[in-house]
Amino acid sequence: MPTISFANPKGGAGKTTSALLLASELTTKGARVAIIDADPEKWISGWAELPGKPDNLTIYSDVSEDSIVDLMEAAASKAQFVIVDLEGTASLMVANAIGMSDLVLIPTQGASMDAKGAAKTIKLIRNQARMARRKIPHSVLLTRTSAAVTSRSLRNVRDQLSNAGIKVLTSSIVERAAYRDIFDYGGLLSDLDTSQVSNLERAIQNAREFAGDVITTLQEKEVVGKEV
Ligand SMILES: Nc1ncnc2c1ncn2[C@@H]1O[C@H](COP(=O)(O)OP(=O)(O)OP(=O)(O)O)[C@@H](O)[C@H]1O
Ligand SMILES: [Mg+2]
Repeated sequence: MPTISFANPKGGAGKTTSALLLASELTTKGARVAIIDADPEKWISGWAELPGKPDNLTIYSDVSEDSIVDLMEAAASKAQFVIVDLEGTASLMVANAIGMSDLVLIPTQGASMDAKGAAKTIKLIRNQARMARRKIPHSVLLTRTSAAVTSRSLRNVRDQLSNAGIKVLTSSIVERAAYRDIFDYGGLLSDLDTSQVSNLERAIQNAREFAGDVITTLQEKEVVGKEV
């Protein structure tokens, strides 16, 4: 079943946050989801130890450069979606994971535009695709964008990437307190308390749109069927 990896050698680009949001949305819809936690900080494994992890979500925490290919294969044979949260470096483990992925999302901070990290990842994806003699669908995912301004600079970033032939996912991940809070409190966005977390409904809506765009991309690339 489809494997979606989050890669960008730039630290703090939003890989872990976006990976958990996607897993959260897919499990809410009832899908069996596996996350391979290849981030050395192990944020998602830590989150899974807090109360509220859904039963249809499995976390694989013990991952190494040697084991990642086996693990991705095993996870894909059991889960309906496999999500891989990669480390913030360009390592052999990252290259292996990219080589095994059906879709690579490249979280890139909208405001500061971690263009170098994104460019490095795209190069790595293209090399892996050549070695494997297949296409590896990939897309930049703009993260930590400002809710207040649908800024001209963000449109500029999108335009620049499109002009360079780089696909950018339609929705971006907005900067939201709720996306930090789930790591502190555990559970899913819908488990947070609307009276305690500002703009929770909008955060949930944004995560839903993002997951919808990922599914649409997988369908466009014919990785999954239209019935998903
Ligand atoms: N959309 C967002 N809204 C609010 N906070 C965010 C958002 N995205 C990321 N953050 C915060 O920014 C920090 C870095 O994000 P995250 O850990 O997701 O990045 P990363 O790419 O996985 O980093 P690393 O390379 O270190 O693994 C975290 O403290 C996270 O809570
Ligand atoms: Mg991370």
